[in-house]
Amino acid sequence: MLHKTFGHTTFSVSALGFGAGHLGDDVLTDQEAHDLLERALGLGITFFDTARSYGRSEQRLGAFLPPHRDDVVLSTKVGTGVPDQPDWSAAAVRLGVEESLRTLRTDVIDVVFLHSCPLAILEKGEAIDALLACVDAGKIRVAGYSGDNEALAWAAASNAFGALQTSVNIADQNSLHEILPDAAHRGIGVVAKRPLANAPWRYAERPTGTYGETYWDRINQMGLEPQADDWPGTAVRFSAFAPGVSTMVMGTSNAAHLEEAAAAVARGPLPETELHRWEKAFTRHAQEWAGED
Ligand SMILES: NC(=O)c1ccc[n+]([C@@H]2O[C@H](COP(=O)([O-])OP(=O)(O)OC[C@H]3O[C@@H](n4cnc5c(N)ncnc54)[C@H](OP(=O)(O)O)[C@@H]3O)[C@@H](O)[C@H]2O)c1
Repeated sequence: MLHKTFGHTTFSVSALGFGAGHLGDDVLTDQEAHDLLERALGLGITFFDTARSYGRSEQRLGAFLPPHRDDVVLSTKVGTGVPDQPDWSAAAVRLGVEESLRTLRTDVIDVVFLHSCPLAILEKGEAIDALLACVDAGKIRVAGYSGDNEALAWAAASNAFGALQTSVNIADQNSLHEILPDAAHRGIGVVAKRPLANAPWRYAERPTGTYGETYWDRINQMGLEPQADDWPGTAVRFSAFAPGVSTMVMGTSNAAHLEEAAAAVARGPLPETELHRWEKAFTRHAQEWAGED
């Protein structure tokens, strides 16, 4: 597994990271979740991304990770859903971090992201100050922002954050040109979320009402078929080697898909000609296709 340095930190992160959104689903038993995490470690994955709001994800990571804690870089996301606290208040951020520390069974979390908070909340400053106070208190190592578009641009320019997480995939490329290379150049660690564009090739028909519907539409309009690899290989290699990206957090509940992705990373970046086909097809729609949260 290829590893990269995460921004200006000393963290070494695997180019293929584990997005633990699906880990919180009840479709997985605790044993299946444990086995999936064990397989991820076995493949050399060292970056694990979860969130307070991902069902039982933090709990399952907390059950699995303690013996491996020194070998992995762990991120979570906070800001909302704390009982009796307004979302994005200082207390919601601080108590969210404390609850994550307990649930993940760790003394310190490597990266904590404000989870998709709107631009107006960032500008207000309260949530950022609360997150930075957690860094000062030694509860987290790096303060991060996770989101897209104007809020992402603001976060990148603010100098408040050492990490950014945003959508980067074959059907979501705007931040790649406008924000990420410069952010990475300034030492910000960059996490690509939704790196497979939610695997739209799975659906022969438009998956109406599902989370990946927009990306399915985009891929349809782009009208390309992969030429240098299969669909998952193309999607993985596009995101994992995108300029400025430190790690991409693939979501899966299926160990075989994780193995396929690790093998795709080992094949290296897409050939330039293939990359340009996907960039050109996206560029035709860049004005109308915003980053998907
Ligand atoms: N605002 C935020 O901060 C935010 C928002 C969204 C996501 N995220 C992060 O990004 C991570 C990934 O996001 P995501 O899961 O929405 O998107 P994704 O990684 O682009 O797509 C994951 C989907 O692709 C499927 N898949 C994977 N490999 C496949 C293959 N070889 N063939 C067919 N299907 C395949 C998975 O199903 P299987 O289970 O069948 O593999 C899963 O449903 C999350 O876990 C989270 O860490 C953050």
